[in-house]
Amino acid sequence: RGAAPGALPLTGRHVLVTSGPTHEPIDPVRFLANRSSGQQGHAIAAALAALGARVTLVAGPVAIPDPQGVETLHVETAREMMAACEAALPADAAVFAAAVADWRPAEPAAQKMKKPLDQSAPPLALVPNPDILATLSRHPQRPELVIGFAAETERVIEHAQAKLARKGCDWIVANDVSGDAMGGAENTVHLVTHHGVEHWPRLPKVEVAARLADRVAEALHP
Ligand code: CTP
Ligand code: CA
Repeated sequence: RGAAPGALPLTGRHVLVTSGPTHEPIDPVRFLANRSSGQQGHAIAAALAALGARVTLVAGPVAIPDPQGVETLHVETAREMMAACEAALPADAAVFAAAVADWRPAEPAAQKMKKPLDQSAPPLALVPNPDILATLSRHPQRPELVIGFAAETERVIEHAQAKLARKGCDWIVANDVSGDAMGGAENTVHLVTHHGVEHWPRLPKVEVAARLADRVAEALHP
């Protein structure tokens, strides 16, 4: 594959990417979410496409444009993201950069919740969301290369190594979010694999994306 003269390193490959937060409805006007901007995941999708890959980007609600040359599927909740990812298989590689909500309200209200007259606050019962990375890592149609992210504010490497083992993926991009990484234009990441840890310098998110896309191309072309 990709042996034709002038072919790009990922020509003929299909790569799945998730990006952005998920929104989990509380009622028709309220949701649970997080601070993910989608910048890093979208940049990875664009960088993979620039190397010739056919990219399916499953994006949660973000304020940034769809990357050029990438098929972008817009979803809101973790369960919608999971369904879109499974429907996008088979893929040669998958990069799970989305900040998926770990929990969702157990029973979203059908109508806007009103303040109780006695000034009390309503209870908000949560249930766990499916783990998309863990599910796809053990899927019958598992991509050859599965990459997760780990957003950590402390003991970054230690947590990432535990996640690598727990999730069943091949690599974890460990992301130090103790500063302004969520929403900022730069990222400090460490590439954690079953062979060791690579510390990357603080880089613009587009540079992190370009390096990661190069590594994907190398891994798929031994
Ligand atoms: N992830 C996922 N589905 C979820 C939760 C996480 O696919 N329901 C993916 C993320 O996209 C990321 C990786 O799993 O690639 C790690 O996410 P993270 O939130 O760092 O890990 P968790 O396992 O959720 O653990 P915690 O939030 O407690 O650190
Ligand atoms: Ca989480």
